[in-house]
Amino acid sequence: MQPDQTKLQFDKKGNLRHLLSLKGIGAELLVQLLEDAERYLTAPGTLAARSQSLAGRTIGNLFFEPSTRTRASFDLAGRRLGADVLNLDVNTSSRKKGESILDTIYTLEAMHVDIMVVRDASDGVSAYIARNVNDHISVLNAGESDISHPTQGLLDLMTIRQHNDDFKNMAVAIVGDIQHSRVAMSASEALQTMGIGELRLVSPKALAPSADRFPGARIVDNLADGLKDADVVMALRIQRERIGNLDGVPGIDEYFANYGISHESLAYAKPDAIVMHPGPMNRGIEIEGTLADGPRSVITKQVTNGVAIRMAVLNHIGKMMNTR
Ligand code: CP
Repeated sequence: MQPDQTKLQFDKKGNLRHLLSLKGIGAELLVQLLEDAERYLTAPGTLAARSQSLAGRTIGNLFFEPSTRTRASFDLAGRRLGADVLNLDVNTSSRKKGESILDTIYTLEAMHVDIMVVRDASDGVSAYIARNVNDHISVLNAGESDISHPTQGLLDLMTIRQHNDDFKNMAVAIVGDIQHSRVAMSASEALQTMGIGELRLVSPKALAPSADRFPGARIVDNLADGLKDADVVMALRIQRERIGNLDGVPGIDEYFANYGISHESLAYAKPDAIVMHPGPMNRGIEIEGTLADGPRSVITKQVTNGVAIRMAVLNHIGKMMNTR
């Protein structure tokens, strides 16, 4: 992300206006969002938390790339805060007839959409929209290429903090296709801001990132070394849709044998280590199915936290909007 894009996130008063990346978001605001999100959690089987803090506001969900969790949770989060939510079906929208992205945005602006939630496979689309919308509108990045997925980074941070808030003495191992992962990037940004003790990025060499993209992290290609005494293990899928050339990428059986998170490989981590996965999961490739469903897995907790964190972000953006 360019420095001006980091600055673009804040309004003239220094308040968060757009959420494009976790880079440039300080620990104080991260913790504030996490604590706000905790207040939106309710026990299973009870009524979901609700407020009217966004009543009268309209949120547009613009997903130009597939999504289950992020899109559904932004939709629920907006409705539970009393907003009107418009889910634009891109496959049946006029973008298929050649309408430019800005013409689509200006059309939604004219319909009084206040918050645009954007997912796109290309770099920089959320920032491009943020630069071109009216002053009262906010843009939230819901997943950008292999660059950034800030609300995923926040929900991952929230889930880790629920297990252990001693970030300085913690080892987190993220295992999988780090090179093409926006999830790893946003988790890394959030964890570094919180002063993480050790962040290990574990992958076969063909899927390893360049070190300059992850300052402060240790890049490892051996799973046993990467998982040794880790407090948190996060498995990632291989992002085949972003890989042009699969040369050197292990096949399924070889990958699972060498990099799969299983009951057997998890024995390298601490006995109370938690297992995370942002989804969608490929069982039997990056994670053993029974482990994903077992007591050490916090994968469904991540999903629950995803709604709460998006409520916290929308609530914060709405409050800041009211001060402009
Ligand atoms: N983790 C995540 O972004 O999942 P979706 O692609 O289903 O939104």
